[in-house]
Amino acid sequence: MKIGYIQTSPLFGDKKYNFEEIEKLITGVKADLLVLPELFATGYNFVSNKEAISLAESQDGETAQFLINVARSTESIVIGGFIEKEGEKVYNAAMMVSNNGVIGSYRKIHLYYKENLWFSPGDKPLKIYDINGVKVGIMICFDWIFPETARILGLLGADIIAHPSNLVLPFCQKAMITRCLENRVFAITSNRIGEEKRGEDHFKFTGKSQITSYNGDILSSAPEDKNYVDIIDVDIQQARDKKLNEFNDLFENRRVEFYKTLVKSK
Ligand code: ACM
Repeated sequence: MKIGYIQTSPLFGDKKYNFEEIEKLITGVKADLLVLPELFATGYNFVSNKEAISLAESQDGETAQFLINVARSTESIVIGGFIEKEGEKVYNAAMMVSNNGVIGSYRKIHLYYKENLWFSPGDKPLKIYDINGVKVGIMICFDWIFPETARILGLLGADIIAHPSNLVLPFCQKAMITRCLENRVFAITSNRIGEEKRGEDHFKFTGKSQITSYNGDILSSAPEDKNYVDIIDVDIQQARDKKLNEFNDLFENRRVEFYKTLVKSK
């Protein structure tokens, strides 16, 4: 199965420019599963909830149409971040599309920093999509720091975690080695590059998009400062065997009777 990512440098608020940059990058690219960064069409550093609302869309907006066009030209299932609007609320979300249309969306459940002011927290359960027999889960950026997110996707049967990101802390790429190893899943972290200085905040995004293997190997690592695309071949069956050795199955060996603290809210 061919899986990959696109790493870009979005210009805040300029969807047309951001779409065109991706169109240039995907010329001739073919894959089965392709992941774009979090909020790739809008940029990240909002200064108000109103501004986030002004760039938000439903699942039949121009970003959905753009992603469907990417799915058609790359022959892939495509996942990319967008601001999802529903009623009065806006969510930091990611949409999965095929050449036929939108398959579904995930709304980020762990909001980072002032995202808590601009967005409503995700209100839908973590979920697995069956894509021609391959099980794909979605989490967004800062979700990585809560190991429960990847664990639940793993327990729900994910072979691959699609991970659109706008990373600003320097830890995630290393942490994904552990996330993948402890759940024996593949992950595609599609990050962005560049800087956004708006309002009181100045973010520098860390690039280094990464495909991490079920055994902790890094299969692809992008530069920290360049637009980049990579597609690699993986054998997804490897993520189905949770045995580390003849004595340790990472899911069967869990001792859930000792984990009750995990599901207490306080
Ligand atoms: C982040 O979650 N975009 C830092």
